Amino acid sequence: QLNWIDAAARDAVPAGDVIGVAVAGKDIALYEVEGQIFATSNICTHGRARMSDGFLDGREIECPLHQGKFDVCTGKALCAPLTEDIPTHPVKIENGRIYVALD
Ligand code: FES
Repeated sequence: QLNWIDAAARDAVPAGDVIGVAVAGKDIALYEVEGQIFATSNICTHGRARMSDGFLDGREIECPLHQGKFDVCTGKALCAPLTEDIPTHPVKIENGRIYVALD
């Protein structure tokens, strides 16, 4: 049983873009990839950078600090200097709202 938390309005995430939101006190990044929403931690696994300040290209988010890239659908670290994947979170859309499960 997942604990779904209301994170944002579906309309708040522009097509092909990323936003940062606080969900139950956690910094979460929400991404729009070809009509679907994905969620990860908003904090880079390499340093103190927010993914929502980065650049989303398709399903790849580029960290603004050292240009490390993650796959936002799987959380996989795709290149140096990243050595650790980024945590992902399940997402569902209901009544125009985005719900995220944190654990
Ligand atoms: Fe993200 Fe270094 S802080 S790649």
